[in-house]
Amino acid sequence: VHDLGKVVAMLLSHCLASLTTIHSVPCIGPEITGLFYPQYGIVLDAGSSHTNLYVYEWPAEKENDTGVVHQVEVCKVEGLGISGYSHDTEKAGLSLQHCMKRAQEVVPEQHHRETPVYLGATAGMRLLSLQNRSIADRVLSAVEKTLRSSPFNFQGARVISGQEEGAYGWITINYLLGNFKSSRGTSGALDLGGASTQITFVPDQEPIESQENSLHFRLYGKNYNVYTHSFLCYGKDQALRLKLSTQNGSLLDPCFHPGYLRIMNISDLYTNPCIANGEQQLPFTQLHLQGNGDYQRCRMTIQKIFNTSSCPYSSCSFNGIFLPPLQGEFGAFSAFYFVMNFLNLTTEKSPVPLDKATSTVESFCSRPWHEVKAEFPKIKEKYLSEYCFSGTYILSLLENGYGFTMEKWQNIQFLGKIGSSDAGWTLGYMLNLTNMIPAEKPPTRPLSHASYVGLMVFCSLVLVAVLLLSWLAFHKPKCLQKGLI
Ligand SMILES: *[C@@H]1O[C@H](CO)[C@@H](O)[C@H](O)[C@H]1NC(C)=O
Ligand SMILES: *[C@@H]1O[C@H](CO)[C@@H](O)[C@H](O)[C@H]1NC(C)=O
Ligand SMILES: *[C@@H]1O[C@H](CO)[C@@H](O)[C@H](O)[C@H]1NC(C)=O
Ligand SMILES: *[C@@H]1O[C@H](CO)[C@@H](O)[C@H](O)[C@H]1NC(C)=O
Ligand SMILES: *[C@@H]1O[C@H](CO)[C@@H](O)[C@H](O)[C@H]1NC(C)=O
Ligand SMILES: *[C@@H]1O[C@H](CO)[C@@H](O)[C@H](O)[C@H]1NC(C)=O
Ligand SMILES: *[C@@H]1O[C@H](CO)[C@@H](O)[C@H](O)[C@H]1NC(C)=O
Repeated sequence: VHDLGKVVAMLLSHCLASLTTIHSVPCIGPEITGLFYPQYGIVLDAGSSHTNLYVYEWPAEKENDTGVVHQVEVCKVEGLGISGYSHDTEKAGLSLQHCMKRAQEVVPEQHHRETPVYLGATAGMRLLSLQNRSIADRVLSAVEKTLRSSPFNFQGARVISGQEEGAYGWITINYLLGNFKSSRGTSGALDLGGASTQITFVPDQEPIESQENSLHFRLYGKNYNVYTHSFLCYGKDQALRLKLSTQNGSLLDPCFHPGYLRIMNISDLYTNPCIANGEQQLPFTQLHLQGNGDYQRCRMTIQKIFNTSSCPYSSCSFNGIFLPPLQGEFGAFSAFYFVMNFLNLTTEKSPVPLDKATSTVESFCSRPWHEVKAEFPKIKEKYLSEYCFSGTYILSLLENGYGFTMEKWQNIQFLGKIGSSDAGWTLGYMLNLTNMIPAEKPPTRPLSHASYVGLMVFCSLVLVAVLLLSWLAFHKPKCLQKGLI
């Protein structure tokens, strides 16, 4: 009995061990092994208008599997984006404290010291660096001070380039969609922030005509030649400033609802490297915007911020920037998603056709401001008042800027989350910095689904045998004792 018991115990432990190392089987995948070995990573996305903190979790043994790393928390930092604290840089650091506390609650205490924390700042800080490098550095030191004083493993706070922002967004969505390890193609990535916008995809055309728009990756044993471009100043907030600056201080603004009034200081409009003719002195200090909600005219004024007068390549988007012919499916996220979602233009299944989207934005813009305000009393007026402009800008950018015609438009899917994770650059950034996306294919799993089922059945039989044996050991039935003696 003793020897038999040993053999069974060995088989059982072997069974458990093999079960916990099976990765690709959904019923016992990350959830179970994750209970034994979770790891965490924290990324702060310091955008132009606000900062988000993301906590990611993954089971340690399976770190290279696509879709295994997932978001468990997002904390929205109150107040301005870090670049908004240029007049009081210490506050940029203090503003992050609340979300860092939240991260300490989400990540179990025994994991704090090993959990990496990264901060990546995007176009708001790129603009501040162009304006005044020393102030931008002071803002970064202030946030670094806060992050260093947390119990986590601080790994750096830096301004990421537009190219990186585009690349990591593309990596994030393709990782989450499981495209790298499948035979289907990759999805392009469309990202819209407050101060910049990115377009990234694998074009048909090779090689990519412009070096600065070309990236090469080898992931899971496949090569990818990726086109990317980040348009600084073409995020939705900076695009609105650009548009206002071309407007000659005119009173009526077609991109705001009829009855809407906003007074802006001209100085606020021009203290920014996005507005080229900053020296141009206007004969007044304030701009009185008065909406008239005219979608067609709004499209025309927006069109003026896309300079299509020259193109040194075979094809361009605008401002002389190379754009190869659009290829494949696209995921559009961040503000592309938030704005379109507000306008009810993000459907789960088939995309809303372009003409339907256009007429929806058109009729939304024409609604009187008092009516819109009454329907959405919970949304801050500043944000609510800008959905008409933002919706129109998105259509202009995608249709005129990038050339998503009626048919190509159908290939765009507006994405908020994929699974539990927000679409955005942060996950791709962390995956790369922790070397979690291997260049070569990890060795194929030894078990097929059929052999997994077989193993499960076998393990169950072993378990039954163990129970039977322990019963026998305790009760020592006479017949068996005799037989063994
Ligand atoms: C940057 O800001 C600092 C502090 O406000 C100021 O002293 C300096 O002149 C500015 N530099 C530039 C290039 O504007
Ligand atoms: C602004 O006004 C000037 C002078 O009235 C005019 O020449 C120019 O075309 C206007 N620009 C725009 C963008 O309307
Ligand atoms: C415009 O500037 C004045 C004086 O500098 C300031 O008091 C006011 O708050 C500013 N208005 C806006 C809308 O920023
Ligand atoms: C458009 O770009 C061309 C060439 O890059 C430049 O000469 C022209 O001034 C630009 N037009 C506007 C309106 O900015
Ligand atoms: C979106 O749909 C909801 C629910 O049907 C509706 O209450 C809301 O007014 C719609 N939003 C817009 C901007 O029309
Ligand atoms: C990822 O990290 C490696 C270094 O570990 C770097 O060479 C590579 O360029 C990074 N990928 C991206 C998309 O930046
Ligand atoms: C994941 O990939 C990295 C880099 O390719 C490698 O060093 C690491 O051993 C891999 N981890 C596992 C569990 O396969």
